[in-house]
This record gives sequence, C-alpha cells and structure tokens, in this order.
Amino acid sequence: MRSARSVTWLRGFLVLAAMLPAPACQKVRSTLNPLGPAAANIARLEWVSLILFCIVSVVMWVLVFWAVARRRGSLETHEPWNVGGGQSWIAVGGFAVPFVVLCTLFILGLLLLRRFPVHEGMKVHPEIRVIGHQWWWEIQYLAQPASRQFTTANEIHIPIGRPVDIELDTADVLHSFWIPTLHGKVDLIPGQRNYIRIQANLPGTYSGQCAEYCGEQHAHMLLLVVAQPQAEYETWYRDQLDPAHEPTDAESVHGRDVFVGSACAFCHQIRGTDAHGSVAPDLTHFASRQGLASNSYVNNKANLAGWVVHAQTLKPGAEMPDLAVFNGKDLRALVAYLDQLK
Ligand code: CUA
Repeated sequence: MRSARSVTWLRGFLVLAAMLPAPACQKVRSTLNPLGPAAANIARLEWVSLILFCIVSVVMWVLVFWAVARRRGSLETHEPWNVGGGQSWIAVGGFAVPFVVLCTLFILGLLLLRRFPVHEGMKVHPEIRVIGHQWWWEIQYLAQPASRQFTTANEIHIPIGRPVDIELDTADVLHSFWIPTLHGKVDLIPGQRNYIRIQANLPGTYSGQCAEYCGEQHAHMLLLVVAQPQAEYETWYRDQLDPAHEPTDAESVHGRDVFVGSACAFCHQIRGTDAHGSVAPDLTHFASRQGLASNSYVNNKANLAGWVVHAQTLKPGAEMPDLAVFNGKDLRALVAYLDQLK
C-alpha cells in the first residue's frame, strides 16, 4: 500500500518536473524567446527574476527539510520553550534577504524602463494607430500625405530591422496590446493615448493577443504582426493603398452585388464599392489576411461561409450577426467575391 502511494507521488513529481522547462521550449509566443530588442531587454530581467526565485526557493526548501529532518524528542522534553529565540533567523531570512532581492528587482525594473524611449513623452509620430474594439483590432496606417493612408484589421505589417511606433486607442473598453516575442503589454485605455515601439529583426509572423479581459470574446481577440524585408513591405503597402480588385468572373460579380445589396455594406467598408460601413473591419483586401474573426479562424472559403451564416456560434456575443438570409447560390458567390479581395 505504502509503496503504491510512493510510486504515485514519484510519478506526479516526474510529470511536474517534465513540465518545468516547457515554457522555455515553446517557440510560439514565449516571452523567454524574444525576437526583437524590446522583448530581449524584458527577457533578460525575466531570467534574472527567475534565477533569483530559484535560488530563494532552493534555500527555503533546504531549510524546511533540514528543520524536519533534525527534529528530535517531543515537545515535553524541550520545555521550557525559549520563546525569544530565533530572532536573527527572522531578521535575516524574513527581512534582510527579501529587502535586498526586491530592491534589486525594483532597480533593475526602473533601469529597464529607461530603455523604452517611446514612454518618455508624447513627442512621437506614430506610423500606425491600433484601435481596440470588442473583439477585433482596427489598424490605421498614418503616413503623410493622406493619399498614403489606409485602414485594415487584425494584421499589422512592419518592415524588419527598424523601430515602428504605434499609437494605441480604444473604441470601447480596456484592451491590452501584447506581442510576447516583440514587447511587453501596453493597455488601450478609453480617453488616453498610449504608445508602443516594436521592432522585429527577422521576417516572419508574430502572434499576439489582447491581454486585458474585455468581455465574452476576449480570448478570441488575436493579432498578427507580419514582419517583412523592406521591398516586400513596400509592395504590400502599395497593394493595400489600391481600391478593391474588380471581380472578373460572373460568380464574383454576383457576389459583389450580394455584398453591396445586403446588410454587409452597412457595417463593412470595401473601398472602390458602395460599401462604406465603418463599425466593422475594412474588407478592401480581406483575402490578403491570414485569419478571420480577429484571427480566431484560418481565412479560407469554408470558414468564411461558416462565419457569414453562423458567426454567433463561432464567436458568441460578437457584433457580427448570423446572416441566414442568403440562399446557397448567393452565399457561394459572396464567398467567391470576398476570397478574391487580395
Ligand atoms: Cu480586448 Cu481582451
């Protein structure tokens, strides 16, 4: 009986021990796997905290086991108790050591803040404005003149190798902008403008997540940062400035008429058409984006058809209603049209 229980304990311990290195190994969205300068600075402090935590924990557990192992005799044999004993343990272990450890971390944290110049004031000229909505991200490119500006959603493109300043606003409640491998979290606060400076040194797609609970679909408020070499980024930028592609085949032409003639056009904008809605994501180049429903689902025809008809099942509570009004032909045409909006 006793050995069976020991085996169970041992197995549980081994499982826990095997899980410990997991966060460090996780390639996706790990703060310990920084891929930009800001995240690298934060990761260094994180490692210092983690190592200090491990040292303090090991010392503490050694003392606990030592106290248990050296127990001798019963309470009676130790009477009378020395109630005044042990003060030096309390002074050193309970005050001096925590004071030094916490002060060290506090000072390192303050020094780290100075490495983020975008926090030093409002003298920034952001290239991008991100506006949080329940539950998606509006992304405005703010270049001058106005003919260089456009709006997209849920996927930010940046050039690699240089810093990009982003302004953070919200249209409703608190959200938090977090791309773990590029930077820490910065909140989107009603009535206040915040800024963040991100930089990616390698091309790739960096996934992020709203990091402030903002309602029912907070977990489905995902965000992608696509970092590209300068030339590729400029091509993408030029494509985004263009109005929507004119559909060429008969089905897509019908799909555009369905879109513009239905409830879709009241909420969504597709530049170059009569759809000028502004409360939902701009769909001008919708098919160039990797995800739909704020990256909750892969952007393909099957998911798109499901999203149009059953949005409230795929993302309950979202502003997008179930649009069960389309017949099969109209729905196929609508999906074909949206799918060619590269
Ligand atoms: Cu937006 Cu959580």
